[in-house]
Amino acid sequence: MSRLDVETPSGLEVVAYEEGSPLMDLAEDQDLPIPFGCQSGKCGICQVEVLSGELAEPGTFEKAVLESFACEPKVRLACQAMMGEGRVRLRILNV
Ligand code: FES
Repeated sequence: MSRLDVETPSGLEVVAYEEGSPLMDLAEDQDLPIPFGCQSGKCGICQVEVLSGELAEPGTFEKAVLESFACEPKVRLACQAMMGEGRVRLRILNV
């Protein structure tokens, strides 16, 4: 198990996670306040910024969507990202 820290408007949420698990499943299971819309990489509302640590490399589809939204390099789509290994800290961008 690894540790995910999420900066939210109400403070820091800390949860444990299994490597390779979908970030969206983790967010839903742990009631993390990441907003989800389409859940399929189309709307962009679920953007998070990776402040430290690493998520798994984005897939071709996620990369294309992030490029279409002109996102900064550390921004990921929570509905598409998979957890990597080790401690990760995220900030929710659309709150
Ligand atoms: S929920 Fe729409 S892109 Fe992630």
